[in-house]
Amino acid sequence: MSFSSFELLDHSKPMLVFGRDGQVGKALQVCLKDLKIPVVFLGRDECDLANVDSIRQVLNHYQPQVIINAAAYTAVDKAEGERELAFAINTLAPKVMAQYATGVDHGVLVHYSTDYVFADTQKTPYFEADQAGPIDQLCLYGKSKLAGEEAIKDTFNLVHDSGDAKYQDRFSKYLILRTSWVYGDGENFIRKILQLTSDQTQIKVVDDQMGVPTSAEWLAAMSVKMIDSNIESGIYHVVPDGETSWHGLAALAIETAQSEGADGKLKNIIPVVTEDHPTLAKRPLNSRLNNTKFKKALSEIGFEGQYPHWQNQVKAYIKENIATSLKYGEFDEGYLCQ
Ligand SMILES: NC(=O)c1ccc[n+]([C@@H]2O[C@H](COP(=O)([O-])OP(=O)(O)OC[C@H]3O[C@@H](n4cnc5c(N)ncnc54)[C@H](OP(=O)(O)O)[C@@H]3O)[C@@H](O)[C@H]2O)c1
Repeated sequence: MSFSSFELLDHSKPMLVFGRDGQVGKALQVCLKDLKIPVVFLGRDECDLANVDSIRQVLNHYQPQVIINAAAYTAVDKAEGERELAFAINTLAPKVMAQYATGVDHGVLVHYSTDYVFADTQKTPYFEADQAGPIDQLCLYGKSKLAGEEAIKDTFNLVHDSGDAKYQDRFSKYLILRTSWVYGDGENFIRKILQLTSDQTQIKVVDDQMGVPTSAEWLAAMSVKMIDSNIESGIYHVVPDGETSWHGLAALAIETAQSEGADGKLKNIIPVVTEDHPTLAKRPLNSRLNNTKFKKALSEIGFEGQYPHWQNQVKAYIKENIATSLKYGEFDEGYLCQ
């Protein structure tokens, strides 16, 4: 049986969203705009997640019942040289949020994590129960995100097992939503590819890293659905159906853009292998997350909508965003090899 968690919330307490200006943060702004509960979105200027005091200050000020952490240190290659900062933002900050959430009646912490917590230990898509790591084979970003997941789990387990009356019957929970290859309103692979269509005739794209492209808009909508339910604490793989390589994603993006009237200068997408194009941060070849547990949880709360396939979401995104995508600026990522 499912119930609406929103009905249990104290409507005088705002929902607090960190990461206002990121892809997922912007998508959450759209999803949450008509919510009856007040929602406060915080960007870096209002709260620097590298600063624990700043996080505690805003939590104490707003006293939220629901916290959504859509902020993260996401510069995968740069993280290799900024260990301390990446761990502060991706590990310590969510731990502080978890410490706060455990002490709140019906408190909920939603936190996003990544496919990069897995390091090619298997050839098939990963379930939530599969062992992440091994840690020494993860890139620094993956290590910091995995440590963030563990900090949240440990914090909740510790207080719930402590028998401390302060935490008994709080019914607080955490939802760690692992996702992959996110695209929305911001810098992402699809926008970069589309931008290249106007000034390149050929590009090289990695064809041996496999994953599931995920729409930020859909991820945000799924997050809200999960908050507003009795889905239990845990890790969930929130990705659409299907899988592809970066090359496969680039090919579909260009085909769709050209069918929508984009300039067709880019004709040749050359598939290349990761081994020949090393990046600062090592990325897993198998980035595929299995979504069975998430789909089961959705069906148990009565979700009857059609579960999406990544291709349909990408096509819809390109159709909606084509003008913006073609204008988008430079950024640096490891799956494009120029
Ligand atoms: N993008 C992907 O492909 C992908 C894949 C798997 C998982 N994820 C996870 O999904 C979540 C959302 O990703 P996204 O794509 O929306 O990321 P994004 O677009 O890079 O946004 C991250 C946000 O975090 C904010 N941030 C970074 N450092 C901060 C700090 N010290 N204090 C406050 N805010 C800070 C950034 O602020 P500024 O705007 O000021 O820089 C930015 O708005 C993250 O947890 C990420 O790890 C993403």
